Parts: sequence; structure tokens; C-alpha cells
Amino acid sequence: MIKKKSTIIILLTIIFLALAYITFEIFININPNIDKPNIIQIEEKFENTEEYKIIYNKLYQLKDEPNEEEIKKFINTCIENNFVINEELINLYGTNNYNNDKLISYIFYMQEKKQTINEEINYENIINIVNNNLENYSKQYNYEFDNFLLNLINEKFFVEKNMDKYIIYYSYNKDLDAKEIVTRINSGINDAFYTNVKNTDTSKGIHMIVNKYYKLDNNYIPDDLITIPHDGYGLQIRKEVYEKFETMLEDAKKEGIYFFITSPYRSYNDQNYIYNSYAKTDGYEKADTYSARAGHSEHQTGLAVDLSPNIYMELDTFESSPAFGWMKENCYKYGFILRYPKNKEYITGYIYEPWHYRYVGVEAATIIHDNDITFEEYYEYYENNNS
Ligand code: DAL
Ligand code: ZN
Repeated sequence: MIKKKSTIIILLTIIFLALAYITFEIFININPNIDKPNIIQIEEKFENTEEYKIIYNKLYQLKDEPNEEEIKKFINTCIENNFVINEELINLYGTNNYNNDKLISYIFYMQEKKQTINEEINYENIINIVNNNLENYSKQYNYEFDNFLLNLINEKFFVEKNMDKYIIYYSYNKDLDAKEIVTRINSGINDAFYTNVKNTDTSKGIHMIVNKYYKLDNNYIPDDLITIPHDGYGLQIRKEVYEKFETMLEDAKKEGIYFFITSPYRSYNDQNYIYNSYAKTDGYEKADTYSARAGHSEHQTGLAVDLSPNIYMELDTFESSPAFGWMKENCYKYGFILRYPKNKEYITGYIYEPWHYRYVGVEAATIIHDNDITFEEYYEYYENNNS
């Protein structure tokens, strides 16, 4: 009897346990909030291994402020993707700017680069290339220019749409640094002067660019030209420019400085006549160094002035006059820039012209002055960056 009773108890216990197990399984399957036993269990097992502890400690010691979650995630990502956690990966983890979310991209990038180029792994480069989404550029150019790519993107006036041009130009001019490459490409001088000429965007107003790559139509005339009062020559200039010029001159006079406008607005036809006269005397090649071809002169914008220290229109003496020193110090505060500076001839395409000033407004003039850049460089970065 006792034997029968205990058999029944055992049977009931088995049935009860079986029912409990089935209920538990069903509950887990229909309740999405409860984690199913999956990879986490495997990780938990691994967490107890010696190997895990060694790796964990190594990773932990790499950082000034170790992050337990980050380390676990790193290890888990490696396990999930079958990456062997060797010294290489540990070094990668310890490198500045490491970002766990990009781990897989780092590893793939590192593996592909190693297969292509037999060189020491530069972990910092790998991380910075991937963090800045430069992998495709790097692969395209066979991983050759990683350092250059990183220098490029750190350049102040780097323009993303010019990336290919920078790299191609650099591949032929490896003696130049990233800053110089950015300057040259942004200024368009990878093309010879007067090649690849485009119509300038006149809607840029006081920021429109006119140079050897950007031209104005022969019928372009600024719509707010005024005749300069009391000068007796009928010279014309844009109204806003004249107002700012007047203020500047008034302030200069207070310090005993005088200067005079000799040549402001010039029509397309005026410029055509001037350029051709010079070309006849000096030849086209020489004339191109100091005179613009018709449609390519800033004077047609009504935003430029040539200055003389006296009423005799002596452009050549302007640099040695006190007016030049005053302008150098102060003109940007009124929105004017020295448009063709010394040592920038290769960018502007013109000889140094200490007498030629261009109105661009105070904000742009201040940027150009503070960064010691040309209007070409300003334009590409601030006006032409997204088109
Ligand atoms: N001298 C300047 C470059 C011009 O002709 O517009
Ligand atoms: Zn001029």
C-alpha cells in the first residue's frame, strides 16, 4: 500500500514538473519582454573563463576611465563576428577616438588594408579614417594617401566636394602640403588661367567673383551705379561702395591721410579697349599679368577701385605713400580688401597691385584679413561650398 502511494506521489510530481516546464516555455514564447536564453547565456559562460578575465583586464587597463559596458560590448561584438581578440584588436580598442559602434568597420578596413599594403598598422589612422567616413576615398586610391586625407580634412578651408581634385592634384605634386593643395584647388588654379571659364553668379551681389575663371557678360552693368560727385571725370561706382568709401576716407582724413579714386567702374567695352591697347604694346602674355580681358575685370562689377595718393592719378606711387599703410591696417574695417596681394600672384593671376581694392563688405573682408587669404579662397569656401 505504501509502495503504491509513493509511486503515485512520484508520478504526480513528474506530471507537475512537466506541466510547470510547459507553462514556463509557453510563457517565455508569448512574452516578448522576457529574454530567451540565447547568446547571452553563451557570453555568461565565457565570462567565467580565464581567457575572458585576461582579455577583460587588458582592455580595462588601456583606458584612463574604463567603461565596463563598452568592454563587454567590444568582446561580444568580436565573439558574434568570429574575430579573434588578439593584440591587434586590443591595441585598436585602446586607441584615441575609438568608437565601439564602428568596431566592425575598423576591423574590415584594417584587414583589407593589410592585404593590399604591407606596412605597419597605424591604429590612429584607421580610427580617424573610419570615423570620418573616408574609407571609400582611401580604398579608391589604394590606401596610399591616408595621412594626406587626414591632413586634408583638418584644413580650415577644406571643401568636401573638392576631395577628388585635391587627391589627384596631390598625386602629381607630393611636395606640397595639404594647406597648399586646398589653397590651389579652391582657387581653381589646377586649371590654366582662362580655361574652364564659367559665367559668374551675379546673384552673389557684393560677393560675386570675377577673375580668370569667372566672367561677366558683355551686357552686365550694375543696377545701382552712381556718378562720383565733384570729381569732374564722370567716374561711376556702385552706391553702397561709394558710401562705405566715403566713410573710410573721412576717417583717414582725421588722421591726415588722403587718397583718391582713379578708376572705379569700367564697362565691358572700356576694358576691352584697355586690355587690347596693353596687348598691342606689351604682347598678350605680358598684358595678361596686369590687365584683365574684357568680361574678366572686377572693375565691371562696380565694386573695385584703383587708388592714387594724389589727384595726379599716380597708381605707382600709392604703395610708398602713407595712404597705403593706413589702408593695410584699416580697409577691412570698412569692407575693402587688397585684391591682388604680394606673393599671391600665382593664385589671383595678377601682379601685386597695391592700388586695387575690392569691396566685399565688413564680414567677408574681416575673414579674408584675419586668415590672410585671397578672395578666390574665400569665395570657394564661403560662397561656393554646396553648389
Ligand atoms: N588690373 C586689373 C587686374 C584689371 O584689369 O581688372
Ligand atoms: Zn584695378
